[in-house]
Amino acid sequence: MNRLLSWPEPVVRVQHLSDSGIRFIPDRYVKKPEDRPCFIESRHINYNMIPVIDMNDLYSDDASLCRKTSALVGDACRDWGFFQVVNHGVSHQLMAEMQEAWRHFFKLPLEEKQKLANSPATYEGYGSRLGIGKEISLDWSDYFFLHYLPLGLRDQNKWPSLPISCRELIGEYCSEVVKLGGKLMKIMSANLGLTEDYLQAAFGGEDNMSACMRVNYYPKCPQPDLTLGLSPHSDPGGMTLLLPDNDVSGLQVRHADEWVTVNPVPGAFIVNMADQIQILSNAKYKSVEHRVVVNAEKERVSLALFYNPRGDIVIEPAKQLVTEENPRTYSSMTFDEYRLYIRTKGLHGKSQVESLIKS
Ligand code: OGA
Ligand code: NI
Repeated sequence: MNRLLSWPEPVVRVQHLSDSGIRFIPDRYVKKPEDRPCFIESRHINYNMIPVIDMNDLYSDDASLCRKTSALVGDACRDWGFFQVVNHGVSHQLMAEMQEAWRHFFKLPLEEKQKLANSPATYEGYGSRLGIGKEISLDWSDYFFLHYLPLGLRDQNKWPSLPISCRELIGEYCSEVVKLGGKLMKIMSANLGLTEDYLQAAFGGEDNMSACMRVNYYPKCPQPDLTLGLSPHSDPGGMTLLLPDNDVSGLQVRHADEWVTVNPVPGAFIVNMADQIQILSNAKYKSVEHRVVVNAEKERVSLALFYNPRGDIVIEPAKQLVTEENPRTYSSMTFDEYRLYIRTKGLHGKSQVESLIKS
């Protein structure tokens, strides 16, 4: 594990590159021609097709509306791996305050942020890359990564203390979003034909699951058509609840071999299935590849809350979902073992979950 203790080369902050006023981005950020974003195509065809779920309808007195909405969630998890939720119960004011606090954090002087610089040992703190290969291609973003759950991993000293309200806000925000995640887990379990608490229990239960947050900062980019803010990947954990930027879109989802730009509904969270749910559901629900494009005019901030299994629990397909017609597709592995791959090699589409497919 020693090789995970430090980065293989000095870390370059993308924000610093962007602020320096360069007109051409360094080669390390230039993607292969086939991996570059195609702005013309994505802008025209595929806007705004991600299903939007009104959570009020899930708890409505009208039983048929509840059933219909719950079925919509199931369809979204199967067909898209992505949906947006509105009326989700998380305070809009809290969401706005978190966005503001993190914008403030990334605007702090470099020396201030460097005090919280991260290492590949845990990734906690201020970072600018995923993966430790010396030659890996780099993405046009900086980030902040922190643990919220389990309590044993939560270390508020590693969270920003500036702006002053930051630590308190993070705690409140994570608590609210984790509650929302818990509600969605029940709906997904029921939709899969499992008992309502199945998925949560498989994650270790409410007190033992893990939750961490990655705040993504995508600075303005002088050549957005050559690079990506985040390379294609599926999220390794259970489910992701993303608070996107209010003003700037950038997230794209792979659907039917096209990159579909997500147009966020104001006040919504974007929810996506991640690899462990794909494994637990024996691929009934799919973790879908996504990526982020950047732009020349505006920076973008997004907050991803990763709702994950406890690290040392073995994850495998639910027995009820393994049948003769649907044989078991994945081998078992703990989430900690699984996550090590991304942490060492960086983002590579869905290659990891696919490598677990039994032949
Ligand atoms: C992520 C992610 C998307 C975004 O952090 O895993 O996919 O829009 N973020 O920033
Ligand atoms: Ni992601």
